[in-house]
Amino acid sequence: MNEVYLREILQEYDEIQRAQSHALSLRREEVFSRIPDIAKIHNDMIELMAQNSRKAILNPNNTSALVNELQGQIARLKAKEMKLLKENGYPGDYLEMQYRCEICKDTGYTGFPVKEKCSCLVQKLLEKTYRLSNIQELEAENFDTFDPMVFPEIPLENSRLNQREYMTELRDRLLDYVDEFPNNQKRTILFTGKTGLGKTFLLNCMAKSIMDKGYTVIRTSAYNLFDQLFYGAISDSPDSLAQKRNLFEVDVLIIDDLGTETRRNNFTVEDLFNIINERTLRRSHTFLSTNLGLSNLRERYTDRIASRLFDNANTMIIRFQGADIRLKK
Ligand SMILES: Nc1ncnc2c1ncn2[C@@H]1O[C@H](COP(=O)(O)OP(=O)(O)OP(=O)(O)O)[C@@H](O)[C@H]1O
Ligand SMILES: [Mg+2]
Repeated sequence: MNEVYLREILQEYDEIQRAQSHALSLRREEVFSRIPDIAKIHNDMIELMAQNSRKAILNPNNTSALVNELQGQIARLKAKEMKLLKENGYPGDYLEMQYRCEICKDTGYTGFPVKEKCSCLVQKLLEKTYRLSNIQELEAENFDTFDPMVFPEIPLENSRLNQREYMTELRDRLLDYVDEFPNNQKRTILFTGKTGLGKTFLLNCMAKSIMDKGYTVIRTSAYNLFDQLFYGAISDSPDSLAQKRNLFEVDVLIIDDLGTETRRNNFTVEDLFNIINERTLRRSHTFLSTNLGLSNLRERYTDRIASRLFDNANTMIIRFQGADIRLKK
């Protein structure tokens, strides 16, 4: 993937680490001046470690016993520190380094001795590549902010549930899906329904919670995807080839608003077919949304693509119905 992006992102990681460790030293100063007992515990820890290294030098055959002893002593001091912090109204981990990613501790890499890119780094690279760093959007639209009250309690055709109940049940079903992820039986999900029924919102919920589980996600609109495929096809630069490879390799590909893209030629539709087909064969996850009904989709994308999309063995089709909640807003 693009080396320039990688360098930029690793620089961001460096800055984050530096900011976090600065924040930690400020928290230490604050606590040490307010709670001298904790300052003393820290001095004791430093003293213990120093003593321990002296002992280890004098007694090189006994280092593992020394390490065990030291770990026990440090753990006891830490427990004491945590108790004091809580008694004084601080969170127990107030004097710990705070990491944005607990897996790689904000270094971007995991594994020893062979280093691998952490999924948070891979995700950042994808976001840069696709200019989809709309993380703010995911902060606003996720399962925690899902609000059933935005949906009216009007009856739906062919359902015993009203719109609000239907959407609440759908949310729970998708939460189960995320729990099971990536071992789901059906790995393609198609949201179909008119405008303003909460399709994009739910796609964002899925994106956020699957990313939080440590998987990579590309979110794109069909419009941008087709644009990218089209310009990729006419340029064939190494960059566009790498971007295209991501579309096959990412854990979840989300294509919003299928049907709104400009059709430049059949070539891009063929590309779409290849991506979906290949992802289905690899048992990868692809989530799509569309305003088009099934018969319109068939017309627009040919039977071959449509039958891939609607193949019951691999695809969960979810129909959105009811009143446009944008109008209500
Ligand atoms: N569960 C929800 N809780 C709170 N707000 C929601 C919820 N679902 C949707 N909304 C809000 O309602 C509006 C319409 O929802 P959304 O964009 O998801 O509709 P859509 O079905 O994707 O429409 P379109 O087909 O036009 O793209 C948005 O502003 C969205 O933030
Ligand atoms: Mg939408």
